[in-house]
Amino acid sequence: MSNEKRSNFSGKIGFVLAAAGSAVGLGNIWRFPYLAAKYGGGIFLLVYIVLAITFGFALMAAEIAIGRKTGLSAIGAFKKLDKRFSFIGYLSALVPMIILPYYSVIGGWVTKYMMMFLSGNINKAATDGFFDAFISQPIEPVIWFLIYIGLTALVVVFGVEKGVEKVSRVMMPVLVVLSVLIAVYGLFMPGAIDGAMYYLMPDFTKFSVKTVLAAMGQLFYSMSLAMGIMITYGSYMKKDVKLESSVKQIELFDTGIAFVAGLMIIPGVYAFSGGTPEALGKGPGLMFVTLPKVFNGMVFGNFVGTAFFIMVLFAALTSSISLMETVVSIVCDKLKIERKVSCLIVFLSAVIIGLPSCLGYGIWQDVKIIGMQFLDFFDFISNSVMMPVVALLISVFVGYIIKPDNIIDEVETEGAVFKKKKLFVIVIKYIAPICIILILISSILDAFNIFTI
Ligand code: PFF
Repeated sequence: MSNEKRSNFSGKIGFVLAAAGSAVGLGNIWRFPYLAAKYGGGIFLLVYIVLAITFGFALMAAEIAIGRKTGLSAIGAFKKLDKRFSFIGYLSALVPMIILPYYSVIGGWVTKYMMMFLSGNINKAATDGFFDAFISQPIEPVIWFLIYIGLTALVVVFGVEKGVEKVSRVMMPVLVVLSVLIAVYGLFMPGAIDGAMYYLMPDFTKFSVKTVLAAMGQLFYSMSLAMGIMITYGSYMKKDVKLESSVKQIELFDTGIAFVAGLMIIPGVYAFSGGTPEALGKGPGLMFVTLPKVFNGMVFGNFVGTAFFIMVLFAALTSSISLMETVVSIVCDKLKIERKVSCLIVFLSAVIIGLPSCLGYGIWQDVKIIGMQFLDFFDFISNSVMMPVVALLISVFVGYIIKPDNIIDEVETEGAVFKKKKLFVIVIKYIAPICIILILISSILDAFNIFTI
């Protein structure tokens, strides 16, 4: 990505939509609801929202400003600002490399469900145990994973992202409307109101450090933070676009979709299983287990379900394309090779790294790393370890090395006013570093079962 070729987004709305395309994905629809269900419902939602308007806001503003100021993507940007800190750029570039493979495994599951609904197999998808049986097979999930990641790679090779983004821009609002309708419909199922209460009413006895860590990791993941993506997007942003209000809009959009997805899935879990701890803690499979049952009981359920999974697939694709793009451009720049070759290398490595995650629910289910299945492990390393570390480094870098004024100047270019300037400085200098350090220590101790809070 050289400077001459750096094109600009056509204005504020163009920038917000492109960044939202990367931000809104499986993180919102698949990951957020299962974490909220697992970590105490309302309390998770509350912690998440508080973090979004403090941490999320400060970090996203910092990343976009760094990108716009330097006009470079992560590796080059840190180097340009202070050579000694180029390693932050490299570290952040590692995160999408870890996420892309397992993201594509889940993308494969979505593709499979979409095809099932399309071929009218809704009853089968809604049967108990169907999902577990599917992901534990040795061949089928691998094939869907390959189809999904192949699709992502094709888009990246042929550079037709813009086409996919255009379709997704139309689909995204429809997805929001559809999700609200599904959520409202779901609330009328017997028992669903209890689920809605669990999701919306914070129960402070369920608060723990783990809740904060899970919410923080989810925030970074969902908003594509702490992995260099927003720096790259910022580098394409025009100077006259208001940075602060763009950040607020992206956050609102991203959090809004996650919120509705939770409302669509968690009450359903209650309706179908009474909200037992096992049902709530189902983990990565939650969306695939609950939603087909909701659709199955619905008039035109097949149609609504098919439409829903098609849209989720597009939302996922725009995100995995931006993940792969990032990795491909890094490989291109560093190895000085052609884009097509770089795509092939990234594709093959992602397939190899993704395979254990794909097989980890079936034939490799007994292989565990620090007590976790492969997919959970990669998710843990990227979300609960690497992203907080990168976020910590970025906040220290901005707070103490280049100083917050540098970012504030960038936000205030062309006469714009940085309304939340004070909040930004306090979060970036004090709250973020201290909280992240505490949370990291406790999570690492916890992962090794040394000391659990
Ligand atoms: N933010 C995306 C999601 O919530 O699904 C995941 C993601 C996409 C992370 C692209 C990073 C990225 F570069």
